[in-house]
Amino acid sequence: MKVSVLLAISAPVLVFAQQSLWGQCGGIGYTGPTNCVAAATCTTQNAYYAQCVPGGTQQTTTAATTTRTTTPGTTAATTTRTTAQPAGTGLDSLIKSKGKKYVGFAADGSSQFNDASISDILRTEAGSITPENSMKWESIEPNQGSYNWGTADILVNFAQSNGKQVRGHTLLWHSQLPQWVKNINNKATLTTVIQNHAAAVAGRYKGKIYAWDVANEVIADGGGMRSSVFSQVFGDWTFLDVAFKAAKAADPNAKLCLNDYNINYTGAKLNTFIQVVKDLKARGAPIDCVGTQTHVGVGDSSIASYKNTLTMLAGTGCEVQITELDIAFPSTASSSALLTQQSNDYKTIVSACMGTSACTGITVWGVSDKNTWITGRHPLLWDENFQKKAAYNGFVAGINS
Ligand code: G3I
Repeated sequence: MKVSVLLAISAPVLVFAQQSLWGQCGGIGYTGPTNCVAAATCTTQNAYYAQCVPGGTQQTTTAATTTRTTTPGTTAATTTRTTAQPAGTGLDSLIKSKGKKYVGFAADGSSQFNDASISDILRTEAGSITPENSMKWESIEPNQGSYNWGTADILVNFAQSNGKQVRGHTLLWHSQLPQWVKNINNKATLTTVIQNHAAAVAGRYKGKIYAWDVANEVIADGGGMRSSVFSQVFGDWTFLDVAFKAAKAADPNAKLCLNDYNINYTGAKLNTFIQVVKDLKARGAPIDCVGTQTHVGVGDSSIASYKNTLTMLAGTGCEVQITELDIAFPSTASSSALLTQQSNDYKTIVSACMGTSACTGITVWGVSDKNTWITGRHPLLWDENFQKKAAYNGFVAGINS
């Protein structure tokens, strides 16, 4: 869809700080200094990035006018010394212009999709939406054969009517699992129950889901198999084969993923995860993608080596997706140092994906700090008042890196 959007900000804003040589000085979403140091000129590289390059005469414009399309790069884009944030900046458009598939966000429920603060951001910034809770087994099939489609339908309908992909989350998970499933102690029964669940849920949304987290968090924290009704009743990993084959039968064109957390650290858990994926492929199970959740804290030790773990995951031969990214503060206390570090961390992680060809998309686990499972710890790109944080600019810089 190529709908031209004219964003005109006419109110002049004076900016006194000067950006250093080679630093960013403008672009959609950028809020830092727009004047370059002496002997450098702010030059537009693309709609999202202007840079202080050597030479030239400093411009003095203080108003910003940006003309863009929803697909930057496909039509002329002109940025003149951005001094205020335009409304709508299109992370998804930007990442697509660099060859990746999507930027997505977790969201859920009518209260979120009816909240313009959230839905406007999703319309403008997202290419994909993940249901934070509504497709989990406990939510969607609380009693055997009895399905609550309402909340999941709202998300899928929003996505369809706004041209967004959906990441389905999740068909099989030990958590948020209804007691009637946990009570099953017979392999044949559990096999049928997994098959029926996948057939019903993935079947209902057939053709509308880009990727399914077919199974979530099946690896134990120390490596090995997580204890669950699935691992206990089957006694081996073949419950995964059942789930992946059932998902494939229900929605043949969806990418089918194995998703987990803490596989952004090297060690036993990541090693087991990789081996399980390789074994699944060797047994002929239809697995297409691996999801690394990436719930981390600001300054986390895994961030500097994030590209390394992405490369290891890419070694499975699967598409790699960052599925639940958030970067939390240590406590509710905020500071400019933490905001800056968080921005740098987003940049590092996003940059690692950009530099890994198998990494196809990034989902952030929520839109604003007002709607996050890590209450009060400021993990996301927009603050509690839906203002863009430095983290947003870090994300943009990561895409542009
Ligand atoms: O919907 C009920 C509501 O009816 C009830 O009144 C209320 C009382 O506590 O609970 C509500 O359910 C909560 C649900 O979120 C919806 O808000 C659950 O208690 C709460 O446990 C649940 O938390 C979710 C958590 O998964 C467990 O399912 C988080 O929102 C969600 O962000 C989190 O997401 C997980 C991923 O699925 C897997 N990876 C880790 C990630 C973070 O934990």
